[in-house]
Amino acid sequence: MDDLFPETRERLSLSSGAVLLGGFARAEAQALLHAVEIITQQAPFRHYRVAGGGRMAAAMTACGDYGWVSDGQGYRYVRTDPLTGRPWPALPSLFLALAGRAARAAGYEGFVPQCGLINRYAPGAGMGLHQDRDERIMEAPVVSVSLGLSAFFQWGGAQRQDTCRKVLLHHGDVVVWGGPSRSHFHGVLPVRSAQTGTGLECRYNLTFRVVD
Ligand code: SIN
Ligand code: FE2
Repeated sequence: MDDLFPETRERLSLSSGAVLLGGFARAEAQALLHAVEIITQQAPFRHYRVAGGGRMAAAMTACGDYGWVSDGQGYRYVRTDPLTGRPWPALPSLFLALAGRAARAAGYEGFVPQCGLINRYAPGAGMGLHQDRDERIMEAPVVSVSLGLSAFFQWGGAQRQDTCRKVLLHHGDVVVWGGPSRSHFHGVLPVRSAQTGTGLECRYNLTFRVVD
């Protein structure tokens, strides 16, 4: 087949409703990281406990009306940070604007997230294959922004055993999944330390969600 419509990283369809927007947030990456730093001064990164007694490999925190927490008894969205007893820091307008723009570029109009989850992956940390389904509203997409070290994102199907596609996500890449892809399985392979030219020693991921 000729490549009249070549697949480019700038806009790479992962499955119906899911798209990688390569480099979409590159220009504002430093500003995003600065906002993460401010947020984590108020709501520090922590490693949540998971069922079975272990802890998540990725450190997490959140901003917005809701944050996602896990305490070993279950996962849920809450309005108060259990670590500080205070509401989560507000979603910076930079986050809101980027999330709305990325969603629109992926074909989802009017996306206004209520929650920004922030994950930090040190080298060696990953996230097992899972579905995002703790949100009560599943009509809205998830907008995911990668910063810092690159990592392989696993993109599967509606069933856990479906074949996964592996895409390397770099600093400034955005993935949006919604519609028929909203509850597809996905995960992150353990991050390897490498030269990224960003000077960062971790991978950061921001996911923007509508919760209820
Ligand atoms: C997530 O699945 O919620 C995080 C994905 C990522 O870190 O890229
Ligand atoms: Fe997820």
